[in-house]
Amino acid sequence: MANANRIEIVRPDDWHLHLRDGAMLEAVLPYTAAIYGRAIVMPNLAPPVRATAEAKAYESRIRAALPDGHPFQPLMTIYLTDTTDAADLRAGFESGAVTAVKLYPAGATTNSESGVTDTTKVAAVLDVMAEIGMPLLVHGEVTDPEVDVFDREAVFIDTVLDPMRRRHPRLRVVLEHATTARAVDYVMAEGEGIAASITPHHLIINRNALFAGGLRPHMYCLPIAKREKHRLALRRAACSGDARFFLGTDSAPHPARLKETDCGCAGIFNAPNAIEYTARVFEEEGALERLEAFCSLNGPGFYRLPPNEDRIVLERGDAPEAMPESISIPGGDAVRVFRADPVPLWRIAAGRRPAGRTA
Ligand code: NCD
Ligand code: ZN
Repeated sequence: MANANRIEIVRPDDWHLHLRDGAMLEAVLPYTAAIYGRAIVMPNLAPPVRATAEAKAYESRIRAALPDGHPFQPLMTIYLTDTTDAADLRAGFESGAVTAVKLYPAGATTNSESGVTDTTKVAAVLDVMAEIGMPLLVHGEVTDPEVDVFDREAVFIDTVLDPMRRRHPRLRVVLEHATTARAVDYVMAEGEGIAASITPHHLIINRNALFAGGLRPHMYCLPIAKREKHRLALRRAACSGDARFFLGTDSAPHPARLKETDCGCAGIFNAPNAIEYTARVFEEEGALERLEAFCSLNGPGFYRLPPNEDRIVLERGDAPEAMPESISIPGGDAVRVFRADPVPLWRIAAGRRPAGRTA
């Protein structure tokens, strides 16, 4: 339900999130747990989460960082390598301990050194995943340094993703953090076996933001923001109501000192304001009636999970609590929070209701 000043939607989920570990985990988790029912937790720790036992141990650390009895549900993923054990994946998925598998092409992004070098090497694992319906979440960029960084997603779709899907037609795939019109067109042209997550920042910035008045390390993430026509294509997809597109924030915190440096790392931390910015985008597109589908319904549909049972309310107004300049991490680091003008028009009116989930 939406009117000019108030939107009530089923509680959203975040289908792509980096929570990290240790002090960083403790500092960033509250921003997600306050708003989202569930989140797909990325496995690119150092070392990565590569087996069910490791996913369970990581889940315990996440739960230990939440207040007792908090209903937030981390959905765990396993990092695919050339030597992943299919039997372990099957057991992890069938027991509910693991929700999905993440494919990082080796070297594509932060902590992806042990990723997959060639998807034909993991064919047996992909066959098992297709059989049991376990989603494969794909970081869709080729790693060939000869390929222009702005073309790496489109080239990946044509040279890796599509051939892999032809070899494994029943495999269920999420093209993570889609950033191009090519990705949107590809998903729209295919059947139900593929979906795409979209981040709030790729709906808001184009590649000019990286160079606005100077080099902007806090606008650098992977896949890198593309030209304006791609941002507009992503907006059309997100706001279309098409069930194959859903919110994955790709909130990826890094200490500011590791971004503001000679070789700064990729990742935008948007957990504090992702919903507020997303609502702004949908309002700009005249699509507030479809905000709920994108944030709260399409993701569960693809993952074959029920939507959350309770609701959140957004109301028109400034959201200063969602817009801190940075947050501090015990130990002295700070993480900059995503900010792009204009700032959100919407704020969360009612967060998690204490008895909400089963009421
Ligand atoms: C992510 C990270 O920092 O872990 N960075 C990013 O720019 N998105 C890795 C990733 O999802 O590519
Ligand atoms: Zn990510």
